[in-house]
Amino acid sequence: MFKEKKGRTEVSEEQSRSGHETTGKPIHNEGDYHVGLSESKQAEEALQKREAKLRTIFERVAVGIGLVDLEGRLMESNPALQEILGYSEKELQNRVFTEFTHPDDLTADTNLYKELLEGKRDHHQTEKRFIRKDGEIVWSLQNVSLVRASGGEPLFMIFMVEDITERKRLENHFLQSQKMETVGRLAGGISHDFNNILTVIKGYSQLLLSELNEDHPLRENLEEIKKATERAEDLTRQLLAFSRRQVMEMKVIGLNHLIKNLEKMLRRVIGEDIELTTVLTDDLGRIKTDPAQIEQVILNLAVNARDAMPSGGKLTLETTNVELDKDYAHTHISVAPGRYVMLSVSDTGCGMTPEVKERIFEPFFTTKGQGKGTGLGLSTVYGIVKQSGGNIWVYSEPGEGTTFKIYIPRVEEEIDALPSQEEILDLPKGNETVLLVEDDPSVWNLADRFLRGQGYKVLGATNGNEAIQIAQEHLKEKIHLLLTDMVMPQMGGKELVGRFKSLHPEIKVLFISGYTDSAITHHGLSEPDTALLQKPFSLTSLAIKVREVLDK
Ligand SMILES: Nc1ncnc2c1ncn2[C@@H]1O[C@H](COP(=O)(O)OP(=O)(O)OP(=O)(O)O)[C@@H](O)[C@H]1O
Ligand SMILES: [Mg+2]
Repeated sequence: MFKEKKGRTEVSEEQSRSGHETTGKPIHNEGDYHVGLSESKQAEEALQKREAKLRTIFERVAVGIGLVDLEGRLMESNPALQEILGYSEKELQNRVFTEFTHPDDLTADTNLYKELLEGKRDHHQTEKRFIRKDGEIVWSLQNVSLVRASGGEPLFMIFMVEDITERKRLENHFLQSQKMETVGRLAGGISHDFNNILTVIKGYSQLLLSELNEDHPLRENLEEIKKATERAEDLTRQLLAFSRRQVMEMKVIGLNHLIKNLEKMLRRVIGEDIELTTVLTDDLGRIKTDPAQIEQVILNLAVNARDAMPSGGKLTLETTNVELDKDYAHTHISVAPGRYVMLSVSDTGCGMTPEVKERIFEPFFTTKGQGKGTGLGLSTVYGIVKQSGGNIWVYSEPGEGTTFKIYIPRVEEEIDALPSQEEILDLPKGNETVLLVEDDPSVWNLADRFLRGQGYKVLGATNGNEAIQIAQEHLKEKIHLLLTDMVMPQMGGKELVGRFKSLHPEIKVLFISGYTDSAITHHGLSEPDTALLQKPFSLTSLAIKVREVLDK
């Protein structure tokens, strides 16, 4: 359509007026009319052919082409450009082309046109975003050439626009996963070494504690050191999870079963204003993972969803079988084709901006303000999913809610045996009401599930204040047993028991503790008749101890 000359694109004035090239040659030669006629006819035919060819190229080429006048208006667009922008030819006609540019790219764009028009350059290439008619963003590689008349004055611009959205998306994923790799390695390295150091600090403070008399003035300081160490251990554990260096207890499980068991606790966590719906596919495939870790994943996602819906909304958990084919794998970094089980967790909350979305899996990234979030929830989720051989994707728009989709490879092996039905059947049962107070969700969940199975009615709290609230709500009903963690943030087990007894004087108490016996005796927490269940406990010992305390 144009000829390159001395590095510049030039056409005659006559051609430029229509925006198309016509021939610059006169049609016939007066001196030799006869020959001239046939020659000119031939020339005309050739010209028509050429024009038709150029028109076909313009119509069929996969690159968007727009001819834009010096005021920036689209004089002509080809079908590819119409498709990229999602507008019809008529809708594009005479529109100012920069109207379609993403606001964030507008300044750069206009500066480049200015440079073109001022003669500083004749051609430029940029990567920029357009906004389609449907509101979607299209990434494009844009080549702009200024066409000048033979005298040098600018005539119009040719825009060549290539849709590179898919490439950009892949690039982005690639950068993202590289970043996560690097941060993961760093976090893993630090937390691993840190764990060793913490073990030493903790061990020595424990030793010292056991050597000091109960009323020794330094005890308190040591207790503080120990508490701080425990907090640090907790952090390290989450970082290890993120960096996929956790010890996983892999089991073949059915995800539906796990979700059903978790439902009650989820409802408790999200509160009454949020409606929980589960859509579980019947013949769901099995997966191999650490069930406690997957519970952690679901819990972290549910807590985030709750935070995103402060005035209520809907949380939906959905499971399905999916087959990811080669095409899908090609367009998604780090996905191997195959059969997967998909879990999606959607909320109708505040959603996220693209800037937030890009960073959510980074450790310590939070938008929740000091003291509210540590920014480790989703990093842990990410680590656990990856360590299970899976992938996680997020879909979210501000104001439109959020969906997380987790894909975990299907396995054909049989479900790993949980403690056999018979073993459990033999264990002592009961029908009393137990209030379970425990801040660790996986321990809570295990005990809750099991005790219910044994016939008990279970009330639950994750901390002392919640437990007291439940005690007040149940003044008329009897709560038979308080099964509580001994060491909890805010209110410890011992204080809780003291306050509880004033409301329910007859209540029996069973402590759960991660401390060694000697440490507890030294804590002064233990009275001769205090019943204690050591962590990690087996279901057998839980059943026996609960019955024992209730029957005392
Ligand atoms: N469902 C969601 N809706 C909207 N924003 C979300 C959602 N889930 C996560 N986010 C955003 O991602 C950020 C990181 O989440 P992440 O769970 O890692 O940390 P956190 O919730 O801020 O803190 P923590 O989980 O450690 O208490 C959040 O601060 C929030 O901005
Ligand atoms: Mg969170």
